[in-house]
Amino acid sequence: MNAIAFTDVSRSYGNVLAVDGLNLTVETGRTVALLGPNGAGKSTSINMLLGLIRPSGGRIELFGRPPEQAVARGEVGAMLQDGELIPELTVRELVDFVRGLYPEPLDLDAILQMADLTDLAGRRAGKLSGGQSQRVRFALAVAGAPRLLVLDEPTAAMDVESRQRFWAAMRDYAAGGRTVLFATHYLEEADENSDRVIVVARGRVVADGTAAQIKAKAGGHAVRFTLDGQSAAGLDALPGVSAVEVTGGTATLRTADPDATVAALYRGTSLEIRDLRLAGADLEDAFLALTREP
Ligand SMILES: Nc1ncnc2c1ncn2[C@@H]1O[C@H](COP(=O)(O)OP(=O)(O)O)[C@@H](O)[C@H]1O
Ligand SMILES: [Mg+2]
Repeated sequence: MNAIAFTDVSRSYGNVLAVDGLNLTVETGRTVALLGPNGAGKSTSINMLLGLIRPSGGRIELFGRPPEQAVARGEVGAMLQDGELIPELTVRELVDFVRGLYPEPLDLDAILQMADLTDLAGRRAGKLSGGQSQRVRFALAVAGAPRLLVLDEPTAAMDVESRQRFWAAMRDYAAGGRTVLFATHYLEEADENSDRVIVVARGRVVADGTAAQIKAKAGGHAVRFTLDGQSAAGLDALPGVSAVEVTGGTATLRTADPDATVAALYRGTSLEIRDLRLAGADLEDAFLALTREP
């Protein structure tokens, strides 16, 4: 069964089309990244998925049910971009309060430990740093042991070390066969912490697959060699090549078929090729290519 299904979902705010005919399904047990630049429609999609706002068109189902029903059954936990904590309550009180809203919550101490809050349990929420508050919001999201965990840019305001610990906690939670969907505009986070990356831009899915597949889709590989003073003329006509750049005596050929390009480079040209290197396009290039304004 699919944990999440969006069918032709759209949402506009006045004349801004924030989500434009989104179709996607997420299988139960997957960890999926929704990757896109600011304004891509990630939060709007997540807020619709949680039943907090209504689509202008189309349909969303969570575990085969309307979002409101899945949420009411305690099947969904969420960490939103703008969730406020009650400042007078301690971390322990807050987590315990939210646990009480669910039919089969996780153990209180287990939650505090998972979110790395054991030492902060007696601290009032109003006295926490930005990164600590994020950890509390994660604790509240997992408190009810939801089958589906939804995280909207969860590591905003966290330093590098907190981020690493946060993702380790998320992976622990996901390991029990649970489904996780998280939004991010950080490529590395998507690459390292998900088994599928859905790239969105301007309210639409522009790529969907593993990080490796997305890199391949957006320009593939780079063949580099030292050109020195030799002419680059004709290199753009080699098989597979989509672009040629020459900087500082080094030629870079962007190619979808590096084997064919390299073979033709040796057989089909009279260039003296030195220092041949082959690299996959990096995810940054891929992301920029995929989300660029048309
Ligand atoms: N409440 C709102 N009112 C008007 N426009 C909005 C509102 N929320 C989002 N938008 C617009 O919808 C688009 C998508 O926003 P959002 O879903 O927040 O993107 P993301 O989370 O990917 O940064 C943006 O152009 C944003 O300005
Ligand atoms: Mg957002």
